[in-house]
Amino acid sequence: MNFKRQIFGFMDMLRFTKLVPNRREALANGSAAPLPKEYRVNTLAKVLHPGEMAVEVTGVRRVTEGMTELTFRRTDAGAFPFFRAGQYVSLRGEVGKSLVSRPYSIASSPREALQNKLVLGVEDAGFFSRHLGREVKVGDRFVMTEPSGEFHYETLRDKKRIVCIAGGAGITPFLSMAKSRLEGDEDYEMILFYGARDEKRIAFKAELDEMAAKGIQVVYVLSDEERAGYEHGFVSAKLLEKYVDIRDVTFFLCGPKAMYDFILKELAPYSLPVKAVRKDATYCGSLSLENPRTFRLTAHIRDQVYTVDAREDETLLTALERAGIPAPNKCRAGGCGYCHSKWISGEFRIAEGRDGRREADRKFGWIHPCVTYPISDLEIDIPPAEL
Ligand code: FES
Repeated sequence: MNFKRQIFGFMDMLRFTKLVPNRREALANGSAAPLPKEYRVNTLAKVLHPGEMAVEVTGVRRVTEGMTELTFRRTDAGAFPFFRAGQYVSLRGEVGKSLVSRPYSIASSPREALQNKLVLGVEDAGFFSRHLGREVKVGDRFVMTEPSGEFHYETLRDKKRIVCIAGGAGITPFLSMAKSRLEGDEDYEMILFYGARDEKRIAFKAELDEMAAKGIQVVYVLSDEERAGYEHGFVSAKLLEKYVDIRDVTFFLCGPKAMYDFILKELAPYSLPVKAVRKDATYCGSLSLENPRTFRLTAHIRDQVYTVDAREDETLLTALERAGIPAPNKCRAGGCGYCHSKWISGEFRIAEGRDGRREADRKFGWIHPCVTYPISDLEIDIPPAEL
């Protein structure tokens, strides 16, 4: 309603006397149609955030000696949600009597997701990944979480030019980021350094060469082999300087811990701001301990109480899954908070550098079982998993 101020202020006040009759009239003239059961914004939210998705394997391809590409389609909907290139999904399945899940970076593009296609690259390392790489066949079904994670480009934070450094299976998020750039959904300038021991260990080489032909700069760096057209050695500061101005780029790293340690050491003399180097968190595995002890882990899930064996060298989450108990999780790296659980009693340790809890959580006894190891009998209260 347009409000025009009167010359005499008291006349403005008089208009308030008509407030109630005006409202009654507006209500009487309103539509009698019932309100929609669901608003469009809620429908969209469900499409973008489906929680967990039922998926089926539609393709299995060996890409190197130690890595397999798995392609999935959704069976509970006609498309995967759109996501940010660089994000991951967590895949859950049963191996024997154990319920297992692992996070994997998405290798396909957000646009392909809308065509009901999602690709993961799985390295033959670890219990579940080895199972996926060697046993899985077309038609096998799994549960997958919606895409998540902060490892993606952010216009406000990141430089226009990004340097992506991959080692081994760490190439997968960069495939997605490169495709997304070429499909026009991102507008960064991307240069990719891909470190491998030799040429035959370079996964997705044909796809990367094709992307290079379309404008993504790709630099292969072989540590154990000298070959024309390839850099030799490691991704050192000296090598990076040959291609970019180190102070005017944002780094995205994905690979093994040894690679992170090496590159961070190389970049240390440049005193880059924290936001200039982004690392993809790998999931938290077993500790290497000689003769690990076994404790009792008591877990409350709503009104159920489970007691399972928990080894000193494995996370509480792994102990629960090994016993077939579903516990919520996504990143398995201490960062997403999805496994957030209440500590009741007992002693524990948290994997080095993985304590992603807020200060209040630390103070009031909340833990992330995906990065927590027992050092005595323990009792915790965990939220029920979405199944
Ligand atoms: S699963 Fe992400 S913090 Fe535990």
